Amino acid sequence: MDQTTRANRQAWETASEKHVREYSDLLAVAAAGSSLIDLERELLREILQRAPEVVHLQSGNGTDDVALAQAGARSVVGVDFSEVAVRAAQQRADELGAPCRYVVGVLPGAPLPDASADLVYTGKGAVIWMRDLDAWAADIARLLRPSGHLFVYDEHPAFSLWTWDEDEPRIRPDRSYFAESHVDDTYPANGAVQFQATLGRIVTAVAAAGLEIRHLAEYPEPFWRMGGVSAASWNGRLPNSFSLLARRPAA
Ligand SMILES: C[S@@+](CC[C@H](N)C(=O)[O-])C[C@H]1O[C@@H](n2cnc3c(N)ncnc32)[C@H](O)[C@@H]1O
Repeated sequence: MDQTTRANRQAWETASEKHVREYSDLLAVAAAGSSLIDLERELLREILQRAPEVVHLQSGNGTDDVALAQAGARSVVGVDFSEVAVRAAQQRADELGAPCRYVVGVLPGAPLPDASADLVYTGKGAVIWMRDLDAWAADIARLLRPSGHLFVYDEHPAFSLWTWDEDEPRIRPDRSYFAESHVDDTYPANGAVQFQATLGRIVTAVAAAGLEIRHLAEYPEPFWRMGGVSAASWNGRLPNSFSLLARRPAA
């Protein structure tokens, strides 16, 4: 593991203590299935009807996993490098009787067998922590069975450019769409290094791994609105999140 990833992991171990402090609240969110939002349900409807075995990369608090199981997934295996997050997610899933299992692993390089997933699900603050997108996409292609799908719903690569001014959107003077990284200066992973990739770079990495792009969409709504912040940049004029669905070709 390189030094930046080691430091990021430490930042996430600390940030994931939040999942422990907010255990009961997150248990209620998981039980209600509300973290899987409408656009995800719509895009995943047909796939979930086939009772897929799901791998969730960077599974974090795991609330999405319980929701995926409720929506039809036969099982979900979450992978995350935070032991704190993995422990809390497993405890929550066990308490709810959900078919979810969690493993600690540094990504890319999931400690799971080849062709073990019908659906690889990831996002909500995930891709920004992957420095090597080609390795990330290749790992996903390896995990997927033929005809299996990758689904991403995540922060738009332009999201970190916008100021959080309430009067009107502005571009942060210290950010560039084409930079390679920046230091996260907001909660929860304050101080960690976020990697940057243009939307073209993300899509090209997925295609280069041999997956067929089925859907790509950009949205004005961020995947997460930090409490107490009402940024003008989130009010409908700028891209703040995206979704991508890709498929491993049939054998
Ligand atoms: C913003 S959270 C999102 C997680 C999840 N999608 C959710 O909604 O809870 C990002 C997660 O990525 C994990 N992470 C970051 N870099 C990672 C890496 N290189 N390998 C494995 N996990 C990583 C962190 O521990 C954290 O749980």
